Amino acid sequence: MCGIVGYIGKNKAMPVLLDGLRKLEYRGYDSSGVAIFGKTLQTFKAVGKIKELEKVIGKNKSDGTIGIAHTRWATHGKPSKANAHPHSDCTGKIQVVHNGIIENHAELRELLKKKGHKFHSQTDTEVIPHLIEDLYKGDITQTLQEVLQIIKGAYGLVVFCQDEPEKLLVARCGSPLVIGIGKHETVIASDVSAILQHTKQVIYLEDGEMAEVGYDNFRVFDAKRNLIKKDIESVLWNIEEISKKGFEHFMLKEIFQQPESLKNSFNGRISFENGTAKLGGLTEVADRLRDVERIIIVACGTAWHDGLVGEYMLEEYAGIPVEVEWASEFRYRNPILNKRTAVIAISQSGETADTLAGIKEVKNKGALVLGIVNSVGSTISRETDAGVYNHIGPEISVASTKAFTSQVAILALLTVFLGRQRRMSLVMGKRILKELSDLPEKIDEFLKDNNIERIAKKYHKAKNFAFLGRKYCQPLANEGALKLKEISYIHAEGFASGEMKHGSIALIDKKFPSFFIAPKDSVYEKNLSNIEEIKSRSGDVIAITTKGNKSLEKIADDVIYIPKTLEMLTPILATIPLQLFAYHVARIKGFDVDKPRNLAKSVTVE
Ligand code: AGP
Repeated sequence: MCGIVGYIGKNKAMPVLLDGLRKLEYRGYDSSGVAIFGKTLQTFKAVGKIKELEKVIGKNKSDGTIGIAHTRWATHGKPSKANAHPHSDCTGKIQVVHNGIIENHAELRELLKKKGHKFHSQTDTEVIPHLIEDLYKGDITQTLQEVLQIIKGAYGLVVFCQDEPEKLLVARCGSPLVIGIGKHETVIASDVSAILQHTKQVIYLEDGEMAEVGYDNFRVFDAKRNLIKKDIESVLWNIEEISKKGFEHFMLKEIFQQPESLKNSFNGRISFENGTAKLGGLTEVADRLRDVERIIIVACGTAWHDGLVGEYMLEEYAGIPVEVEWASEFRYRNPILNKRTAVIAISQSGETADTLAGIKEVKNKGALVLGIVNSVGSTISRETDAGVYNHIGPEISVASTKAFTSQVAILALLTVFLGRQRRMSLVMGKRILKELSDLPEKIDEFLKDNNIERIAKKYHKAKNFAFLGRKYCQPLANEGALKLKEISYIHAEGFASGEMKHGSIALIDKKFPSFFIAPKDSVYEKNLSNIEEIKSRSGDVIAITTKGNKSLEKIADDVIYIPKTLEMLTPILATIPLQLFAYHVARIKGFDVDKPRNLAKSVTVE
């Protein structure tokens, strides 16, 4: 996944481009580059984070008011200056930044090399400027339209041509691009976080669309090259939501935002009187949802873990069979679907390529496709028939935290909504909603007083970790393992507690600690036996359990207490210690918590 910024306007482009890259750095950060046109065309590139690029640019005071910039998450070719974007044609007059994968790049490269084009990188992207050069006859807009008919795959593109320096070309197919319309200036970016401080008026390009952006005007074309009218929309977020607000890392800020973000997830969506949820985004499909007999949840990573929690909820309280699928696998299956099947895509960014591909496949099979998405106006939110937004503001840190708890809350609301359309009683509906509305205060209580930093210090040198849970907390075992490994690089694995004895317990010894999520719930006694099994093999055990349950103090090495709530809502509370544990371990180890190695915030490549 990469970050793209383009600028054309009355101000100097360089500060806008660099600030935009800093805002987008969470999308990919192994190398970066800028091309800026003033008296001459200048390009700058660097390996590593944006600060390395700033060192290369140094005191350069380019007066250019048009430019493009890019921060990369490598897909083809290792991080290097040669592979950093922008990429150019043989003359250097055509500069391109790209997010996505050009699937037919190899054959195009061979064709262009036979015509004498010289390549300088290993990237798929570089075929684009050479193809433009090859076809260019003086109209860059028309030339790009021809090129878009030839390249295959996913792209978000911004193109600059020195022979027509009063415009930027923008094209999108599968990778997001937003055009910010300011006063005598236009900022183009991969997402609104790089645009917000300039304007809140934006145009979201759809797949297949291309825009020609001038100093004070723009034209948008559809895939058939017809001029089309696009609505200018207002962004709901504000700029301070993408600042750390005094926290050392975005991850810590977003962990501490959870009392508020959870509240925002269910605000205005609870009808205590009727014991049900009011989900405005589902109004148009409410009647169709009554007939739904099966649900398939499609997601990736943390969102997939949310789906696993949702499976337990929906089956137990709404009486609907559910299967949860990794989107990257589901898209290659031939699923059995019909109009009584609902497919739910869960995605914080709303741009995850695998999840998007998963729902595109089912739409033409007649299933109802719903979304639980945070990013308003994102591709997935626009591809679904209906859906529910998280309304938790941007999640910047690569490790997802507040999105996880928000998605569980929205799945609980959906469970009540669907349950009350079926067999769930008014009393049960009210009870779930009451418990849900009490959670922000309980999260706050835990955040204010916990022993996680001490426990993180004690175990931060471990080379391996097992995370274990049952029933509603089994998905948390997966989530706790993912959090730890993606930011501290410690190998960690999530298990169903009951599954350990079927082989994996062979891993356990004094050097292989286990994190047990063992609240006082319907499977507590079973977890207790599993903890004993681990202890009898000299494995250290950190246990999360319900406040007031002192029985683990005798057997676990460390105990973390969380407030009591309904079994189905426990994942919202029990995930907080896991988030904090991963955060503190990574911080103590000195790693970049918000931008861990090899990762990007939104994976818009397959
Ligand atoms: C979560 O900590 C990870 N960064 C990653 O697994 C993420 O949840 C996954 O890529 C899905 O992203 P999405 O919710 O934006 O679709």
